[in-house]
Amino acid sequence: MEHGHDDGYAVLAEGLEKRYGDKRALDGFDLAVREGTVHGLLGPNGAGKTTAVRILSTLVRLDGGRARVAGLDVARQPREVRARIGLTGQYAAVDEVLTGRQNLEMFGRLFHLGGRRAKLRATELLDQFDLTDAADKGVGGYSGGMRRRLDLAASMILAPAVLFLDEPTTGLDPRSRGEVWESVRALVASGTTVLLTTQYLEEADKLASRITVIDQGRGIADDTPDGLKNLVGGDRIEVVVAERSDIPRVAKVVARVSDGEPETEEGELRVHAPVIDRVSALTEVARTLQDEGVQVEDIGLRRPSLDDVFLRLTGHRAEKADGAGESGNAGSAGKAEQAANTEKEAVV
Ligand SMILES: Nc1ncnc2c1ncn2[C@@H]1O[C@H](COP(=O)(O)OP(=O)(O)OP(=O)(O)O)[C@@H](O)[C@H]1O
Ligand SMILES: [Mg+2]
Repeated sequence: MEHGHDDGYAVLAEGLEKRYGDKRALDGFDLAVREGTVHGLLGPNGAGKTTAVRILSTLVRLDGGRARVAGLDVARQPREVRARIGLTGQYAAVDEVLTGRQNLEMFGRLFHLGGRRAKLRATELLDQFDLTDAADKGVGGYSGGMRRRLDLAASMILAPAVLFLDEPTTGLDPRSRGEVWESVRALVASGTTVLLTTQYLEEADKLASRITVIDQGRGIADDTPDGLKNLVGGDRIEVVVAERSDIPRVAKVVARVSDGEPETEEGELRVHAPVIDRVSALTEVARTLQDEGVQVEDIGLRRPSLDDVFLRLTGHRAEKADGAGESGNAGSAGKAEQAANTEKEAVV
């Protein structure tokens, strides 16, 4: 391939297999990521997301299938692949004693930027990740979110052709998350391709132009966020009740007007189902529940979310935004895990 391009795809993987003992972490996984885009990789815990990222970033060997990244074969040209990618967590071993700026300058020099360019790049990245105020403080005193941003900054030093972000914002507060999103967008605008695994469907929805849903080591859907939502259908009626014991009764009433099985979220006292004639469905359900004396906390219509898609496809709800969830940093070193844990503790 000329200049490392595969017909406009930055990542092309076919039939990836990875076994750990009897466990098939990847079981015929395919992936195609267009150059210059953010591609989301979504799936429940243990689906194989981190394994896919590790294979594509040459950290683990594949047992079957083939993969090309930036036009290079991951099995045959791992060194060349490594030179063209970035990875979150890879540089999580930020030095506690050094300042944020010193850390970035150090990485810059490791990448042979030369003193002056390393300094410039550090300043740029500190600004981009909103770390300018803390730039000259020791990383030992950074919050979890600040460390995470520093990790990201380090993985972006060379503005890599392909950047793998394995749960880049897990454990971050909403503001820091928004800042990371902005940075990712800026990076993509400058030509980098991003493969992003995330537990936050909102993140995939906001950032990714295409999403692959993975479950049990296989891709089970691949589409744009809107395309995925269309899979689930149009509007949904949603009823929130006051009493859990009313849920079955409400489900029955909703079933009469719905265009598919109602789903219930016991914990949230919620019943919802797709509807076609939205207004008449809403009116009828409201009237019937009132007649039956069911206490309704909320009733309304809403468009499907990626969360609905995820549930439909995998049978699991995605992790809630405040749910801890394992942060599978592909950098994998113990320090990365430690950093991730520290973040969880730091976030309230
Ligand atoms: N080094 C390993 N040794 C044994 N089993 C492993 C190893 N790495 C992953 N697995 C198993 O492979 C499966 C896929 O794991 P993987 O970490 O890729 O999932 P994931 O989608 O990243 O999950 P999470 O959302 O929890 O990060 C899981 O069942 C996991 O337990
Ligand atoms: Mg993972």
